[in-house]
Amino acid sequence: MLTGVLLLLTVTAVFAGVPSEDSKRLVDQLSESEHFKNEHHNKQYDHDAFLGQDQAKTFDQLAPEESKRRLGIIVDKIDGDGDGFITLVELKDWIRYTQKRYIDEDVERHWRQHNPNNEDEISWEQYRKNVYGFMDDMDDKEKYSPNSEGFTYNGLMKRDRRRWHHADGNQDDSLNRTEFAGFLHPEDHPDMREIVVLETMEDIDKDNDGRISIDEYIGDMYRPEEGEEESEPDWVKQEREQFSEYRDTNKDGFMDEHEVKNWIAPPEFDHAEAEARHLVFEADADADEKLTKSEIIDKYDLFVGSQATDFGEALARHDEF
Ligand SMILES: *[C@@H]1O[C@H](CO)[C@@H](O)[C@H](O)[C@H]1NC(C)=O
Repeated sequence: MLTGVLLLLTVTAVFAGVPSEDSKRLVDQLSESEHFKNEHHNKQYDHDAFLGQDQAKTFDQLAPEESKRRLGIIVDKIDGDGDGFITLVELKDWIRYTQKRYIDEDVERHWRQHNPNNEDEISWEQYRKNVYGFMDDMDDKEKYSPNSEGFTYNGLMKRDRRRWHHADGNQDDSLNRTEFAGFLHPEDHPDMREIVVLETMEDIDKDNDGRISIDEYIGDMYRPEEGEEESEPDWVKQEREQFSEYRDTNKDGFMDEHEVKNWIAPPEFDHAEAEARHLVFEADADADEKLTKSEIIDKYDLFVGSQATDFGEALARHDEF
């Protein structure tokens, strides 16, 4: 199974006692970097990139026929010049647009939640009280005992504290809206690149020796299920080769911070373009380097999620459609 999913489940269980919006943010925060790491073999990543995370959740609830119908409507929107073909550029622009829309809405929601009086800034203390205030009533044992992933409440708070500090351009310990956006979505802010690398590194480096071994690298993406140890899936074998051939550039058997940086946040790397190329490659049946609506609908499972039954369809209606 993909770690992203496992991590989500474990963390959700651990945060059972935390107010829901905030625990959701903690879970989001922990799964965020999974995005970068698992994009090769994570369907959910494709759906999130193509639809935005909120819409992707909606589509997951739909029956295949309804999912295809709505996908058709979206394809018409993406085809800006209406020539019947989706080009790489049109797809890239669309992915960029959905990502920006999702992030803007997410920042707005959290900003309002933590700043109900619409002040210019949020102080750390105010944020801490909202998100981690429940810890004030905990004893040390609860604060410091790690869950199965090695995360503790205290560790999460410290990590948020450090990220807050990084996002705080003028170092007054309060964040204005721009700074807060960097705090909430560091993956979207070049100035926050260092902290994304550091947090990713800490997540994967389970033995805390400051570098990532091949076992830690693989263990972060894949854990064999009971009795499955013997037969590793092909994509895991490929990841092993990736590690040795490309990630570990100095061939010392480990990824250091520099190598992790080149992996998850290479300079000049355009995630929207990479994702658009991936989608075109996967769906372009006649290999003319552009997509028709029917090529996209034939591969609807690649672009959007769906359930095999019509359960939940009624729940997922949306004005846009
Ligand atoms: C927030 O503060 C930064 C400096 O830390 C500044 O560059 C930015 O313009 C400010 N944004 C707003 C919305 O006030």
